[in-house]
Amino acid sequence: MNDPHRWLNEHPELGSGPIPIEPYIAPDWYEREREKIFKKVWLCVGRMDEIPKKGDYKVKRLAAADTSIILMRGKDDVVRAHHNICAHRGNTVVTETGPETFGRSKAAIVTCRFHGWVYGADGALKHVPSEERFYQCFDKKQNGLSPIHVDFWEGFIFVNLAETPDNSLAEFLGDYAGHFAGFPFAELSYQFTYHTELECNWKVAHDAFAEAYHVDTIHAGSFPNTFSTGLQNVKLMGPHRTCAVCLTLGATPTPVAGIANSIAGASLVTQRAETMLPPSINPDKRDDFAFELSVLFPNTLIHVSEGIWFTHQFWPIAHNRTLWEGRYYVRPPKTNAERWATEHAMTLQRNAWLEDTATMEDTQRAMQSRAKKVQNLQDDEILIRHSTAVVDEYVNA
Ligand code: FES
Ligand SMILES: [Fe+2]
Repeated sequence: MNDPHRWLNEHPELGSGPIPIEPYIAPDWYEREREKIFKKVWLCVGRMDEIPKKGDYKVKRLAAADTSIILMRGKDDVVRAHHNICAHRGNTVVTETGPETFGRSKAAIVTCRFHGWVYGADGALKHVPSEERFYQCFDKKQNGLSPIHVDFWEGFIFVNLAETPDNSLAEFLGDYAGHFAGFPFAELSYQFTYHTELECNWKVAHDAFAEAYHVDTIHAGSFPNTFSTGLQNVKLMGPHRTCAVCLTLGATPTPVAGIANSIAGASLVTQRAETMLPPSINPDKRDDFAFELSVLFPNTLIHVSEGIWFTHQFWPIAHNRTLWEGRYYVRPPKTNAERWATEHAMTLQRNAWLEDTATMEDTQRAMQSRAKKVQNLQDDEILIRHSTAVVDEYVNA
């Protein structure tokens, strides 16, 4: 058996003591996280293939940073980011229909619906109705959309809301970028998405997905006879972290799951020959490797496996409210049989995610009683311990 305290032995700097609960429930701690984390670090806000054509745009609401942003692909094929606020009287330029709003403009412009000011994809103010009625001091060139720092990695779009970011995206990602280099994210482009608002702190949501200790209990329904064999290859990379989740697949699948797996293999609990994983992932070629679980600080989890990748994102809305977005990607199905098998995998995954999210609001409510001051972590909950240390460091910086 593995040393039961091996992660502590590898990372004694993280300690082994209990973890305070207050940062999950205190409104003032959340205010500090907003200022020191969400308004300062690089945030993953989408994929390039969500806005594939010139003039496509996506508006994303970032409540924790008190803004919403427009990501637009210009006629020059460049994706830029701007705050979604009009220079006239501060209305949102693109009217939002939810946490994410998509649109397309052939002319690659956006128009504020209040009084019709028109902006280009580069943010320039292009047209002001009745412009002659404004005064001499009004300079169109000074009144474009407010730009936001944007950069890209492996097809992911990142923004940084700081006026002057502390580092470049490449510096921020550090070793994390190299760890996933070569994984065919773009090839596995068939996506399904679930999202919901949860009455819990964003870290409660993060923590519930950042360990495999709960697999035997919480997922007994969706993945019966699937048991966690623990984490492997834990790597802490600056504020980011990654590990392999290993599972014993003891069960004969249900007849329907067996058929679906043989057609598409699009489920997480299917054994597949590994052909697309970069050498840094499952380096020992373990049979029980199920997927790589990584956390791109602060709020994005990226998981990869053979033929599958999926993400969870936790967008804080309040100290006890979070928008959760789950996205699952596989190869686009080519036949009806593959389509059906993919839908089956999607349903299975939805059920597992319902199991995961089911504990979060209970945890938050119970924590808010303040009857317990701390939580106690075991060795395989090291990603949570690391998260706590990183958040603490940022908030107290
Ligand atoms: S507020 Fe946008 S045009 Fe007036
Ligand atoms: Fe889970």
